[in-house]
Amino acid sequence: MKILIATKNLGKVKEIEALSEEFFPLEEMSFLLLKSFEKQIEVEENGCSFYENAYIKAREYSRFYKMPVIADDSGLVVPALKGEPGIYSSRYAGENAKDEENIEKLLFHLKDIKEKKAYFQCSAVFYASEKVVFHTEGRLIGEIIHEKRGEKGFGYDPVFFLPEKQMTLAEISLKEKNQISHRRQAFYSLFEKIKQWRENESF
Ligand code: IMP
Repeated sequence: MKILIATKNLGKVKEIEALSEEFFPLEEMSFLLLKSFEKQIEVEENGCSFYENAYIKAREYSRFYKMPVIADDSGLVVPALKGEPGIYSSRYAGENAKDEENIEKLLFHLKDIKEKKAYFQCSAVFYASEKVVFHTEGRLIGEIIHEKRGEKGFGYDPVFFLPEKQMTLAEISLKEKNQISHRRQAFYSLFEKIKQWRENESF
């Protein structure tokens, strides 16, 4: 089976490929990347939720390239800030904002707020046709701290504290992060669904 991974982020591609090997023998599954196509399309992420954005991407790429597609959308949710930065996580401080600028804005808004609970959310969607669509969610719960800690990871990792590990996501190894991340949880459940669908289909 061939699936297109609708992301330009190579780190994500590697994570998805590695996870797929836990479900399917290598010869059964191959992934295509957006950059392998001559014709490129821009898909506007104009949904109102992580799910809608992931769904729009999966559906549009699948219709255009005529093949099954996996897409995801993720971000940081802070309940005390009414869910901000949410689907605007990557551009919280403006279009093309740097990670540090997004973090600065987040800490500024949280400076007088005691409740620091937050979570990363990931929605993953598999779209093979109008009738074959699977959707899963993953969530990693933690707290926002006021000083950046650690050099690893990306995005909001340096201020995302894991109470059970007493470390931020930027302090733990990438391997450890990939075992607990919101993306892993969402993609793991997605592959479970794809596997079940494939098994039932062959009867
Ligand atoms: P995307 O779904 O990969 O486009 O991620 C959207 C944005 O959410 C990123 O640019 C980050 O700001 C934030 N984000 C998503 N996942 C993570 C994570 O694992 N660590 C830190 N920030 C993340």
